Amino acid sequence: MTIIVTGGAGFIGSNFIFYELDKHPEDRIVCLDALTYAGSLSTLQPVMDKENFRFVKLDIRDREGVYKLFEEEKPDIIVNFAAESHVDRSIENPTIFLETNIIGTSVLMDACRKYGIQRYHQVSTDEVYGDLPIDRPDLFFHEDTPIHTSSPYSTSKASADLLVMAYHRTYGLPVTISRCSNNYGPYQFPEKLIPLMIANALADKPLPVYGEGKNVRDWLYVEDHCKAIDLIIRKGKEGETYNIGGHNEMQNIQIVKLICDYLGKPYSLIEHVTDRKGHDQRYAIDPTKIHEELGWLPETMFADGIKKTIQWYLDHKDWWENIISGEYQNYYQKMYGSRKVLD
Ligand code: NAD
Ligand code: DAU
Repeated sequence: MTIIVTGGAGFIGSNFIFYELDKHPEDRIVCLDALTYAGSLSTLQPVMDKENFRFVKLDIRDREGVYKLFEEEKPDIIVNFAAESHVDRSIENPTIFLETNIIGTSVLMDACRKYGIQRYHQVSTDEVYGDLPIDRPDLFFHEDTPIHTSSPYSTSKASADLLVMAYHRTYGLPVTISRCSNNYGPYQFPEKLIPLMIANALADKPLPVYGEGKNVRDWLYVEDHCKAIDLIIRKGKEGETYNIGGHNEMQNIQIVKLICDYLGKPYSLIEHVTDRKGHDQRYAIDPTKIHEELGWLPETMFADGIKKTIQWYLDHKDWWENIISGEYQNYYQKMYGSRKVLD
């Protein structure tokens, strides 16, 4: 089989490519990625020379380029990871989120209609369900929880999901959607909570926790997400949506303190700063459907996963120090420079 993986030079896409090449060496993987600020070819270096791997620098909004690639590769499966993925950036500039996440998705699906496909898989997010109250631990996101988005990012992802289901109903496109909770692990861009805190702590820089830090996220080790997607594209039912999450809810402040403990850094580095606009309170996935239908369960416990992740960042300083030494400095100044430190 030939699988086109879009966004494969980013965090989850690259981990998915490593997993697929290892688990299914008989398949051919074509990675399509525009190499935005969030994508890096250095991430894919370990697989670049493999015979059953090809990298193509391409934007999913480039209709002509995408059609040409489909003509060349005649893919069986598309897994669409390509997206603008950072909530804070979407609050600053929503437009690119709409263009890549919605229009880009439509271009890929049009290519699937034109050339034929066994499966189009849309990698989506639990953020399409909005948020849950902190004081209602009995509530979870189910696949039929209404879409109720908060940020331009989550709205763009929800719009794409609706479009995917419209292509299924209207044109019979064989699609699946997965909605996963927060991932952590190797190769995550250091604008996201866990790698940002690791990088800052190692440099003895302030650790900027938004508001009180009581917001809850449901953390999943990235390889467990990849395993779930692998199952869905091979055994999942067409037209279905699957929630992915490991019942691992934690407050942001707990995560930051844990990173301090592991690195031997003092809590005095923690600074409570101006909150994110429209900040979602709590995410919590009910993964019963994917467990019962496809037998998926998370395999990495958070205590092990976070240790592995911190150790990975310690062992791969060249990867992220290179990233944070460039344009990232301007980004950091813009996003954090004007945030007030709260008492
Ligand atoms: P990321 O930002 O690390 O990587 C995104 C990748 O997409 C980059 O390699 C980038 O170059 C590429 N890209 C961006 N715009 C493109 C375009 N127009 N054309 C081609 N390539 C483009 O993102 P991630 O955290 O790996 O997330 C991957 C997917 O998973 C996204 O769709 C995201 O919404 C979804 N998701 C992420 C999480 C999470 O916790 N990170 C959880 C659930 C779902
Ligand atoms: O739930 C899935 C989503 O998880 C994905 O769809 C998104 O692509 C991914 O970025 C992630 O979104 P979050 O907004 O939850 O992740 P982020 O790492 O940006 O923030 C996690 C929490 O930490 C959130 O409550 C905001 C807080 N935070 C984040 C940063 C970067 C801070 O307190 N300080 C920070 O500096």
